[in-house]
Amino acid sequence: VRAPMVAANWKMNGSRAICREFLQHFDVDGSLDVVLFPPFLYTSILTEGFAERSISVGVQNVCNVSSGAYTGEISAEMAVDSGATYGLVGHSERRNLFGESDVLVAEKFMACQRAGLTPVLCVGESFEERLEGRAESVVAGQIDVILKSVGIKTFANAVIAYEPVWAIGTGETARPDQAQSMHAFIRAFLTKFDATTAENTRVLYGGSVNASTAAELFAEGDIDGGLVGGASLEFKEFAKICRSVSR
Ligand code: PGA
Repeated sequence: VRAPMVAANWKMNGSRAICREFLQHFDVDGSLDVVLFPPFLYTSILTEGFAERSISVGVQNVCNVSSGAYTGEISAEMAVDSGATYGLVGHSERRNLFGESDVLVAEKFMACQRAGLTPVLCVGESFEERLEGRAESVVAGQIDVILKSVGIKTFANAVIAYEPVWAIGTGETARPDQAQSMHAFIRAFLTKFDATTAENTRVLYGGSVNASTAAELFAEGDIDGGLVGGASLEFKEFAKICRSVSR
């Protein structure tokens, strides 16, 4: 049985004040895995503050190497040292705005696993790719690149987030049946390599999830929770989304 997970991707938003709001007011039922992905600088504030509660903290990016002369970069080892336990990899904003290639995404995935961070691999097609009928092949390709580097077994310690690029930050959530169909496709694709891993890997949906769309999405059989951007900075809204997970 896959434990549901709801994750907050703050992107380049938030502040120490917002961290304090979450520390004071945000709490959830312990049977749900909740992960906050704040900007790097706020990792320790949250990991230290949430130490007694079952709320995890992750980083939005890691460097592909562990240490050295890489001015401005932060390694997965440093994220672990600050108490983080998850790392986002391959978010479409990193791919599109910062030119991250499939190869670099695979290296970052491996860097997370080497350091002991659970990678959350983001995949998803653009609007044009969907129109052209290529959504599934694009997503399969993005997962395949990682599978070729690390093998199916390491996916036992990874999470996948399906985030159609056309739904990110646009207010246009994928319909639950549309998302479910891609999630089922992802699981079927993994099954070709290893059925047990496919059955156990959590696949989250991301793209304009909010408190009014979450419950319907999370009710679908292959949607194991969500990766929430814009609606995750306000602790009340995010708590509502977390409570939308049906058990
Ligand atoms: P959004 O972002 O919820 O603001 O669409 C989701 C994401 O990019 O992870």
